[in-house]
Amino acid sequence: MRTVEWDYERHLVKMIDQRKLPSIFEFAEFDDYQGVAAGIREMYVRGAPAIGAAGAFGMALAAQQSQATTRESLLRELEQAAAVLRATRPTAVNLFWAIERMLRVVTSEELEHVDDIRQNILQEAQSLADEDVEINLRMARNGAALVKEGDTILHHCNTGSLATVDWGTALGVIRMANEQGKNIHVLLDETRPQLQGARLSAWECEQYKIPYTLIADNAAGHYMRTGQIDIVFVGSDRTAANGDVANKIGTYKLGVVAKENGIPFFPVVPTSTVDLSLATGDEIPIEERPAEEITGLTFFGRPVAPAGARVGNPAFDVTPHKYVTGIVTEHSVVYPPYSINLRRVVEEEQAKVMGKV
Ligand code: MRU
Repeated sequence: MRTVEWDYERHLVKMIDQRKLPSIFEFAEFDDYQGVAAGIREMYVRGAPAIGAAGAFGMALAAQQSQATTRESLLRELEQAAAVLRATRPTAVNLFWAIERMLRVVTSEELEHVDDIRQNILQEAQSLADEDVEINLRMARNGAALVKEGDTILHHCNTGSLATVDWGTALGVIRMANEQGKNIHVLLDETRPQLQGARLSAWECEQYKIPYTLIADNAAGHYMRTGQIDIVFVGSDRTAANGDVANKIGTYKLGVVAKENGIPFFPVVPTSTVDLSLATGDEIPIEERPAEEITGLTFFGRPVAPAGARVGNPAFDVTPHKYVTGIVTEHSVVYPPYSINLRRVVEEEQAKVMGKV
């Protein structure tokens, strides 16, 4: 089962509708790129690598919708589609990376005929999705090597199969450690306000039979200070060249409290999520989400906040690299100094992908 995939019979993009989980498991279908853009913005699909794959398939749909007969006109139309898709969610760099990768197919001199280019964009999107699964498995093995027998692991947001094409990043590491029989237990932050931990990670733990306990976000510090957490794994939506990590809001305070209590803190980050063009995390754009995500919550069936309450709703925060013990990538676990070691690993992995295009 994949979170996002191309339907080869009906020429459309299918995504698990994550807004309805855990109550309803259902696929949403999109037959134009504008629909895919709406699906990303409205979080039918979410999680950095899954958003990247959705963006790539959105570009493939745009190529199929296009009536262009020359490379130049196809490129113009795809630039337009790219602008619409890029405008959906600003933080996850995988979206921008995936779109650039699709545009490179159009400009590649190797293909002459527009129909071949069109076909190759779909093939490239499919390769990107397939590679995501393979990369996640490599990260899962690298990360699971850090987990000791009987560890209790703290996890934030949802970073599992649902956040990627399949398998996951941080939750993928946890799943691998569980399958290796390490007798682990995971504490899942519920992750307000969208509750990806409660709705999605707990659902995945049920599917994969990972022993878990769901906790309120506010409880994580207590569990760390009282010695009940051995290691923290989180994901990332964009990691800067110096190792500063943007991830779901609330990650920063986990990093700080983990360091204060001597608990290792490992973001699990595919190299496609590293943005070497940004020197530090201060340059990472932080998405502000609608107020209704907070005021729309109910308590005993009634709104949690007075009507008209002023709301701040940043979707992500940045954990400075001084709190990061190491970064698990598909290549290896990278340790400080990140500005040297992370760059080396990312450039090596990027060279492999560029060789294929
Ligand atoms: O707002 P979301 O649900 O898209 O945020 C997801 C996260 O913050 C994940 O931790 C991140 O994408 C990395 S895991 C694949």
